[in-house]
Amino acid sequence: MSTGTSHGTVYPVSPELKVRSLVDNERYLAMYQQSIINPEGFWREHGQRIDWFNPFTKVKKVSFDDHFVDINWFYDGTTNASYNCLDRHLETRGDQVAIIWEPDEEGEARKVTYKELHEQVCRFANALKSQGVRQGDVVAIYMPMIVEAIVAMQACSRIGAVHSVVFGGFSPEALAGRIIDSSAKVVITADEGVRGGKKIPLKENVDEALTHPSIKSVEKVIVYRHTQADIAWHDHRDVSWTDMTAIASPYCQPREMNAEDPLFILYTSGSTGKPKGVLHTTGGYLVYASMTHEYVFDYKQGEVFWCNADVGWVTGHSYVTYGPLLNGATLVMHEGLPNYPEVNRISKIIDKHNVNILYIAPTAIRALMAEGDKAVAGTSRQSLRLLGTVGEPINPEAWHWYYKTVGEERCAIVDTWWQTETGAAMLTPLPGATDLKPGSATRPFFGVQPALVDNAGLLIEGEGEGNLVILDSWPGQARTVFGDHDRFIQTYFTHFKGMYTTGDGARRDKDGYYWITGRVDDVLNVSGHRMGTAEIESAMVAHKSVAEAAVVGFPHNIKGEGIYVYVTLNSGTEYSDELKSNLRQWVRKEIGPIATPDIIQWAPGLPKTRSGKIMRRILRKIASGDYDNLGDTSTLADPTVVDHLIRDRALAS
Ligand code: WT7
Repeated sequence: MSTGTSHGTVYPVSPELKVRSLVDNERYLAMYQQSIINPEGFWREHGQRIDWFNPFTKVKKVSFDDHFVDINWFYDGTTNASYNCLDRHLETRGDQVAIIWEPDEEGEARKVTYKELHEQVCRFANALKSQGVRQGDVVAIYMPMIVEAIVAMQACSRIGAVHSVVFGGFSPEALAGRIIDSSAKVVITADEGVRGGKKIPLKENVDEALTHPSIKSVEKVIVYRHTQADIAWHDHRDVSWTDMTAIASPYCQPREMNAEDPLFILYTSGSTGKPKGVLHTTGGYLVYASMTHEYVFDYKQGEVFWCNADVGWVTGHSYVTYGPLLNGATLVMHEGLPNYPEVNRISKIIDKHNVNILYIAPTAIRALMAEGDKAVAGTSRQSLRLLGTVGEPINPEAWHWYYKTVGEERCAIVDTWWQTETGAAMLTPLPGATDLKPGSATRPFFGVQPALVDNAGLLIEGEGEGNLVILDSWPGQARTVFGDHDRFIQTYFTHFKGMYTTGDGARRDKDGYYWITGRVDDVLNVSGHRMGTAEIESAMVAHKSVAEAAVVGFPHNIKGEGIYVYVTLNSGTEYSDELKSNLRQWVRKEIGPIATPDIIQWAPGLPKTRSGKIMRRILRKIASGDYDNLGDTSTLADPTVVDHLIRDRALAS
């Protein structure tokens, strides 16, 4: 049942949810208060949710001062991530299914119990050791969505190696950049991945990446045979996953790690420069990932949890891998596309495996919604209890479709706002506590202190809109940018003194609910994937015909935001449709298919200030066809450029 207010529709917590859930609203408010007034006490208690080898006595030591940013949680404790995800469950639920793997083509699912997963991880961990991988070494993982991707991540953490998962959709060029930056010693891959009936030549991509002259660190490439495709084999470097694990011992002692030892690196795009290697450490991340997984999804033993993110993104780290395994959940992993072979595939998988909790991105919801009832045709989805969304703002229309058509008004929706850097959910409803407003990520999770500041850094009280910042640390926070702590400080702690800058704008309503309005920096969010405009621009100008490029986002029905590129060619180069398609191919090769421009507009001139700065504000307006409020163009070096761009807007394609 819902009630209308001036903010739109409100969906109060249902009486059943209130009773079954871990926390109701009174309890949420009390716990939240405690977490803010006494963070030490709060996290000392909740830090116990994982097993420690040597218990921590120190809870928190944090400085957000831009001269000295330093973040430590539980920092005299020792533990191991893989031990907490696996060994800890063996006695109580060793025979419970940990992973249900659903292939791209409809067919038999593969089920792996906690006991089996433990053994596979141990064998592979020993195999990694036999290849010379030691504590602190970086291991790149470039895998499809298969069980072995999780095994590889777990095996790294078991021996104290730092995994750096690179999304399988990234190009050889993008993979090479990440290998160079992290000095990865080993690359773990598969012959091929499969998505929507199409093969992704992962091993071939690795081979190509490794021809990069700057790569000196890689000693071995470990290859899992997934599709049995014909692949090139380099005896001096390539090692077979199956051969290695066959001879490896089935038990591997988990390495005792300090809470602040690195767990993983994950590259993400920012407003400037190359992608950053966001570094997460062990203890705080595990506590925060497992706690959010349990409270946000109100996870109860025996339930089937399905987050359909790729392990190449942070959602795939915290809610495909670590969160669910830490809580001893049964998780679903799907290699393939949500609408393949038919648009009702997600719904069919829900029925097939009795999925209780589904967690997907708004872009997937919009793509399904575009097909109407076909997306749920012939399925009951009776097992569903809760629906989650993540990655980009969800428009109320998509929210309602998800709520009504997928969940049949039975399931609460948790719209979770967070980032690669935050490790896990930050603003989110709790199903038994939070009345829902479609389009709002609602209120902070325990220990999270969000605030809004104006551009001068002054705090905005009460209702208002501004830059979303976080005032104090939480255990899941990223600790640094790998190899570049100054960049970490520059990016997150210099805009507003003493606060973590999220890069997002938000509005707060009279009930204290947050509404994310989108990025305030030059970062795009395309189908829930984060991309730097600078990154796409530098890929464009690397093409021999391109003199200059400016990239902006524009509203896109399915993707949320599309990629719009203004291109100036070198003089003497002819502007042609053929060149447009070459440039699209070029970006796919440089970054990957997710960075493919939606629209390219030829721009013999770009709007620049007299000091040469491109005025993106104007380019964004033209891209979205909004010519009425171009604002002040008098500071432009050549204001006529704008008229030409508007005139040519219709020719862009
Ligand atoms: C950016 C972070 C969160 C894991 C996946 C993306 C946007 C994320 C929401 C949401 C509105 C959202 C923000 C954020 N975002 N969740 N529920 N509502 N916007 O992680 O790649 O690090 O991207 O995604 O703009 O800054 P990411």
